[in-house]
Amino acid sequence: MSEQPKIQKLNELKAHSRLGGGQARIDAQHKKGRLTARERLDFLLDKGSFREVDPFVVHRTHDFGLDEQKFMSDSVVTGWGTVDGRLVYVYSQDFTVFGGSLGEVHAEKICKIMDMAMKNGAPIIGLNDSGGARIQEGVVALGGYADIFLRNTMASGVIPQISAIMGPCAGGAVYSPALTDFIFMTRNTSYMFVTGPDVVKAVTHEEVTQEELGGASVHSEKSGVCHVAADSEADTLYLIRKLLGYLPQNNMEDAPFATADDPLRMDESLNEIVPDDANKPYDIKDIIRPIVDDGNFFEIHENYAQNIVVGFARLGGHSVGIIANQPAVLAGVLDIDASEKAARFVRFCDAFNIPIITFEDVPGFLPGTNQEHHGIIRSGAKLLYAYCEATVPKLTVITRKAYGGAYCVMSSKHIRSDLNLAWPTAEIAVMGPDGAVNIIFRKELENASDPVKRKAELVAEYKEKFANPYVAASRGYIDDVIEPKETRPRLINALEMLSNKRDANPAKKHGNIPL
Ligand code: HXC
Repeated sequence: MSEQPKIQKLNELKAHSRLGGGQARIDAQHKKGRLTARERLDFLLDKGSFREVDPFVVHRTHDFGLDEQKFMSDSVVTGWGTVDGRLVYVYSQDFTVFGGSLGEVHAEKICKIMDMAMKNGAPIIGLNDSGGARIQEGVVALGGYADIFLRNTMASGVIPQISAIMGPCAGGAVYSPALTDFIFMTRNTSYMFVTGPDVVKAVTHEEVTQEELGGASVHSEKSGVCHVAADSEADTLYLIRKLLGYLPQNNMEDAPFATADDPLRMDESLNEIVPDDANKPYDIKDIIRPIVDDGNFFEIHENYAQNIVVGFARLGGHSVGIIANQPAVLAGVLDIDASEKAARFVRFCDAFNIPIITFEDVPGFLPGTNQEHHGIIRSGAKLLYAYCEATVPKLTVITRKAYGGAYCVMSSKHIRSDLNLAWPTAEIAVMGPDGAVNIIFRKELENASDPVKRKAELVAEYKEKFANPYVAASRGYIDDVIEPKETRPRLINALEMLSNKRDANPAKKHGNIPL
């Protein structure tokens, strides 16, 4: 009985800690349409699974009157819990305490949980809502950020790291997310910028709102910094749970297997989907969905560089990463943004043992001064490098065009793809018939009595010779030409055939991807 007051004190302290910056600031957070740090964890984690650490931690700063303002737990809530029964480590920044700003102990709390995630091989999820380095703590806050950045880098490729941007994130608060694998944002209530509108105005005299500078639409459509944008905080957190279902706990494990759909299911509509006219667009997602389990495709970077489509799905229960040229946008051409988007996705899948399925319909790299001057050579090389380096099972399906350098890049047999299938509609050549005839028959066309007629004949001849999958298949560059409807069972069979695949790269410190 003598312990009763002590237990009472403990419970009071914990209740106090849970209040963060106090009810008034919690109300202000709600008024802005935002949840608190702890409410967010309730949405993210399985009910009742959250275990908090460090609820008693307070800052140690005396300057600028900070010693008069101490909040238990400081400005971040940390711990672990489960998502669909699987362990995850979490931190959730508390905007009600000093605007979620990061000082010494805030950083220490995050580092502690990151170290645990690394040691125990489970994903780390950061819910970010922070004004950046705590100004009153000076260089100690900067050092705290650097401690986290180092851990983000060490964890890269070892455990999945997921960041959600849940409020205004400025300064150092954007660089830790930028080092992680996936960034989620909530439309209209979350922002990311290195320097906020006030600094921008002072330096460049540019007037810009937080939304215009770094809202979810900017980062999910223009900069590509954000991988998934959602309409509400609850949606954002739900989508993180969904993504985790496709990922392994760490780089030594496989992603969870989920039995589903009939592996032998065929879809007749696939036989009709590619138009006869090679210049007619179609939506590659109309091919992806009927092939994958239950039509479920979790797209990454949905609204950025839409000329290439990347995302996760399952095939016969196995988690796979899909990379697909999108003929419906810019004819599926590879440009700088598309190359970088796909390269990063390929490397994520390779790091985490997720097989890569490539659907190819690509007319080549985008020509023009804009692309050349901004480094399409370097960016295209990133995608090439990523595919060459990847040792996970790699399967390719050429649905239509595989032209030029893009043929080599998009998981060709020559760069260690394991099984390359083509549909009868495939055209594998150095370039399209029109361009090819203009170059190799220029003189003949200039001298022809009827150049239009002659060109049509030469184009037909070229098409007959090259615009098909059989030249490549006769050399073994394509393993088989299949009916489109067979694609699902063939891919699932190949994944199972490759389930013990072993491949490695030469021992080295690390490669030098053309960044
Ligand atoms: C200390 C901070 C803070 C910070 C906000 N607060 N940012 N305290 N250090 N960095 C406090 C405010 O004083 C306020 O306290 C409370 O948090 C809420 O802030 P508001 O400004 O009232 O909120 P809002 O209007 O929503 O604006 C949010 C904001 C703005 C856009 C984030 O606060 C802001 O611009 N903050 C500064 C951003 C910044 O420049 N950070 C430093 C970056 S340098 P009260 O007591 O009133 O509730 C950096 C270097 C690291 O991060 C670089 C590593 C590479």
